[in-house]
Amino acid sequence: MRVALSGTPGTGKTSVATVLKNQGYVIVQLHTFAQENHCIAGVDKKRNSQLIDMEKLDKVIQKNFTTDALVFFDGHIAHLLHTMDKVILLRCHPKELKKRLMNKKWNAKKIRENVDAETIDVILCEAVERHRSEDIFEIDTTKKSVEEIATVITRIVKKNFQPTRTYSIGQIDWSEEIIQTNRT
Ligand SMILES: Nc1ncnc2c1ncn2[C@@H]1O[C@H](COP(=O)(O)OP(=O)(O)OP(=O)(O)O)[C@@H](O)[C@H]1O
Ligand SMILES: [Mg+2]
Repeated sequence: MRVALSGTPGTGKTSVATVLKNQGYVIVQLHTFAQENHCIAGVDKKRNSQLIDMEKLDKVIQKNFTTDALVFFDGHIAHLLHTMDKVILLRCHPKELKKRLMNKKWNAKKIRENVDAETIDVILCEAVERHRSEDIFEIDTTKKSVEEIATVITRIVKKNFQPTRTYSIGQIDWSEEIIQTNRT
């Protein structure tokens, strides 16, 4: 089972992946994997980040990972891959996300961009365009410790990714934040 562990930067993917790794789960850091497998298509000079050749990356993953073994792919582009059997999206309330990104010492523009993206569900929309809704799960990390989030993920895995009232998509809604921002 190839599982995308995605979400807006700062939602805590790598923190949770570290806990899962310590519990014995296999984690692939997607960006490193893409670099090691020559899937870098160029550089986004504006954003000072590498552009990943997603088609090539899908092919390399298809070749290297079967669907029988459980592997988590940590990265905010993981949900864009068609080779993912399941998608777990970490979500975070925009106000808390801002704090987490400020702690990471990101610049104000980058923080704003990512907080806005989280507020309007950009990653969820991208995931829904590529995967069946029943294969996508969302976890609100706002008030959860990384250990609690890891436990939620292992429960979803142990229940064979059956739909759940709490973690199937459609439960999370940050739209109040947009309304409030427009009022102020
Ligand atoms: N559940 C949580 N509660 C509080 N703080 C958290 C939680 N998860 C992560 N953090 C903190 O938020 C910051 C971002 O976490 P992390 O680097 O794991 O996010 P990420 O999703 O992997 O981001 P990126 O996409 O940039 O790699 C870190 O400072 C981390 O300590
Ligand atoms: Mg990370």
